[in-house]
Amino acid sequence: MQSKGKVIVTGGAGYIGSHTVVDLQTAGYSVVILDDLSNSDIQVLEGIKGITGIRPEFYQIDICNTDGLAEVLMDHSDAIGVIHFAAYKAVGESVEMPLRYYTNNVGGLISLMEVMRAIEMDNLIFSSSCTVYGQPEMLPVTEDAPVQSAQSPYGNTKQICEEIIQDVITAGYFKGAISLRYFNPVGADLSALIGELPLGVPNNLMPFITQTAAGLRDEIKVFGGDYNTPDGTAIRDYIHVSDLAEAHRVALERLIHKRQSSAFEYYNIGTGKGTSVLEVIHAVERVSGQKLNYRIVDRRSGDVEQVWADTTKANRVLGWMAKRSLDEMAESAWHWEKKRVESRG
Ligand code: NAD
Ligand code: UD1
Repeated sequence: MQSKGKVIVTGGAGYIGSHTVVDLQTAGYSVVILDDLSNSDIQVLEGIKGITGIRPEFYQIDICNTDGLAEVLMDHSDAIGVIHFAAYKAVGESVEMPLRYYTNNVGGLISLMEVMRAIEMDNLIFSSSCTVYGQPEMLPVTEDAPVQSAQSPYGNTKQICEEIIQDVITAGYFKGAISLRYFNPVGADLSALIGELPLGVPNNLMPFITQTAAGLRDEIKVFGGDYNTPDGTAIRDYIHVSDLAEAHRVALERLIHKRQSSAFEYYNIGTGKGTSVLEVIHAVERVSGQKLNYRIVDRRSGDVEQVWADTTKANRVLGWMAKRSLDEMAESAWHWEKKRVESRG
């Protein structure tokens, strides 16, 4: 089959990037991954090949190395766009090591845009986060909600990067960029050949629950049972990573076909449904067929009480909608966890 075009994916060996590479290759695009493997494993390329039959082209490179990046991208100047995932993402670590986060997340974007400008490569998709909204006053939160002062250096890098892209677009360096504000990505490809690889003790809820279900952890600590929500636990908008992956392709196609109404657009990418911590635990109980130990403890500092997306803009303008249910998210996450435990023996 003839390729629909070549897409550069920075951070394509990571969790969301690898699922997006699968979606792109399945849809007929060819992919070039740029990743320094600082938070991923080269084996993911075999997983991608196992699902799509194609091993994507891969360069192990730190995108902050502007000269090295220019060399690589010059060889791929025919690419139709760039999806930019490469960044560090651990919120707590960013509080302890802010410079590391600003250097990599902000510096990486600047380096990438310098090179794209120099070789006249257009069309950038940026990985942003619902963290930019903090605790919104109105729910569900729309893209028009004010961006609130960030709770962490990590969150701040997302806000700063969006501002930098806006300034660069205003200066006329690029014709098109889209920022996707993800809610809470969870789950894995149905094949369980790729998935999330948390290092050490997971900070995020879903991998902590599936590790507990797999017997790797004794109990789940539920951070806060006294929130003003129906069951007292915090509410988020969990989205299946494969639905999120698809949103990147659809957004890129909007840029390629010059359909955008403004040069820099923002979209919420969630399901539009709020789910409590206990509801996520119960979903994993259903799909794993076991009761899980959990205990309500104090709230985690910096957590918002509840946030879920108004996805009307992405539904109407991008023509994209999340399709997979909470049980499909839990089942695929559980399947991936079991497979990892089995492979470790
Ligand atoms: P991930 O850590 O699994 O993937 C990021 C990839 O980027 C990794 O493979 C890492 O090795 C690579 N990388 C990091 N710095 C690099 C550099 N300087 N040069 C080259 N490669 C580099 O993370 P993810 O969950 O897939 O997240 C992808 C993007 O989405 C990130 O920008 C993250 O901030 C953003 N995001 C993630 C979430 C989430 O919950 N996972 C939510 C909102 C936004
Ligand atoms: C986290 C990040 C946020 C990022 C988002 C998406 C923080 C403070 N925020 O959001 O910047 O955009 O991921 O990846 O880390 N919970 C428990 N027990 C646990 C783990 C989590 O009860 O062991 C609760 C949390 O309090 C929260 C919910 O589960 O209410 C989801 O937590 P998590 O998966 O860490 O994501 P967020 O905090 O929403």
